[in-house]
Amino acid sequence: MIKQPAHIENIPAYKPGKSTVDGWDGPVYKLSSNENPYPPLPSVIQAITDAASTMHRYPNMAAPVLTAALAQRLGVKESELAFGTGSVEVAGQLIRAFAGHGDEVMYAWRSFEAYPILVRGAGATPVEVPLTADHRHDLPAMIAAITPATKLIFICTPNNPTGTAVGHEELRAFLAQVPPHILVVIDEAYVHFQNDPDAARGLELYREFPNVAVLHTFSKAYGLAALRLGYTVARPEVMEGLAKVALPFGVTDIAQAAGVASLLAEPELQARIDVLLEERAKLEAYLATTDWDAPASQANFVWLAAGEETDALQAHLMSRGIIGRAFSGTGIRISVGSPEANEALVEALGSYNRG
Ligand SMILES: Cc1ncc(COP(=O)(O)O)c(C=O)c1O
Repeated sequence: MIKQPAHIENIPAYKPGKSTVDGWDGPVYKLSSNENPYPPLPSVIQAITDAASTMHRYPNMAAPVLTAALAQRLGVKESELAFGTGSVEVAGQLIRAFAGHGDEVMYAWRSFEAYPILVRGAGATPVEVPLTADHRHDLPAMIAAITPATKLIFICTPNNPTGTAVGHEELRAFLAQVPPHILVVIDEAYVHFQNDPDAARGLELYREFPNVAVLHTFSKAYGLAALRLGYTVARPEVMEGLAKVALPFGVTDIAQAAGVASLLAEPELQARIDVLLEERAKLEAYLATTDWDAPASQANFVWLAAGEETDALQAHLMSRGIIGRAFSGTGIRISVGSPEANEALVEALGSYNRG
């Protein structure tokens, strides 16, 4: 009989956000995966269409045009950028390259669902440090949890699913205490939705601390979730490790072309982000009038720490066509959607009777 090794057998399977609702014939709003509610821009579709004409060839693994455009945009050297099939794959590469059996990879919990899967898949040991009661990273507890086996620390800011951002100075003080041989990965998948001036700015911290890498994605703010394009900004010694474990030809020319077109269309995309931020503010203003424990969000979703009521609230929202992402016993993460979706959400929340 074919058998999985013990470290794989115990991995919880990644559950994608739900996308259907039974028994509801009104509009359905899929707010379970933090996707951008806007369809791709015409200029991006054009770039994809043009790139499709060479899909009988393998893609250019060096992604030269995208690398040059992004390096200029971020003010980093081209050699400081590496792409992958979504930032989740780049996170996996970082873990595979720098942690193995007997090594520990630390992250806050609850945080991005993929971390435990990626860490266990690499044969390393996950170390989960609980968030504070107000749903934030507990940085002193993370420092205290460092052991000689710690190889990587993920800081997800803004944090999925709670939306809370780590403060810039707070993270700076944390980094000053982390031994320099530990790689700290600042996962900024939602950074484009961050508007608190005191929230951590990963790229600035990257410049200051040689053991920091930053993860970004084109999936969320740039709306390219299905094309799978993410990247890390990191130093040469990190890049060397990544190059050894990266999936060959993972990032298609189509994704690269879409990335370049998206960078060219940033003003249009920013206008969409601005609308989402207004919608987030409206949702938060509504939530402030309720007694839900919902921390201020710096991301494109809100978190309702519904605790034991999570399943009942999720069932109620689903019965109204609202699909959020429920973590039983903990809470529901709901993406900021179109204005209609958000109105439907407010209406659905308003009609829920708390037990
Ligand atoms: C914190 C965080 N990091 C990384 C990702 C991965 O995004 P992608 O692989 O689409 O770039 C996600 C997606 O949900 C996320 O929430």
